[in-house]
Amino acid sequence: MPRKMKLIAAASACALMAAVAAAQAQDVTPKIDDPISLRQNLMKDAGASIGMLAAIAKGEAEFNAAAVKGALVALNAVALGFPAQFPEGSTSETSEASPKIWEDAAGFQSAAAKFIADTNQAKGMTITNADEMKQAMGLVGANCKACHESYRVKKN
Ligand code: HEC
Repeated sequence: MPRKMKLIAAASACALMAAVAAAQAQDVTPKIDDPISLRQNLMKDAGASIGMLAAIAKGEAEFNAAAVKGALVALNAVALGFPAQFPEGSTSETSEASPKIWEDAAGFQSAAAKFIADTNQAKGMTITNADEMKQAMGLVGANCKACHESYRVKKN
């Protein structure tokens, strides 16, 4: 990726993070028989992991290679578990899942597959400083934005 693109990717990941932080809803108790609660908790965990990376990117926290690796592994784990949490008809008053998830199931599956592939690539990157971390963050963060634009309907 050219340097300018990298900077844009990192900047958009930070903007995304601000949006995620602003959107933090109340805690949802995870229940094994409630896929909405499971996927919302997965997403909150993704938000927390991206938040940690964003704190390093903004210079609010010190770069730590092991912590960054842990956050990227966690994001990959979220991606791996996420697509199975959308059985047909799993909607509710509080869910922000768009009906498009089921109407355009192939599109949603492909967005979920890209999230898995990109987080898998990111967790395998050699990251020795904050600049290298921003590249991984840009790669992962683009998925959050793209999928939310198409498949999430914000309710508040
Ligand atoms: C493949 C699609 C997809 C990807 C990729 C994705 N999200 Fe989401 N996200 C959703 C959907 C759908 C919802 C709404 C889930 C619901 O309420 O049922 C959501 C909800 C959320 C929420 C609100 C959770 C809550 O209920 O409080 C946060 C925070 C969030 N996502 C963060 C992220 C972050 C950070 C990333 C990237 C690392 C990301 N998401 C990637 C689809 C996605």
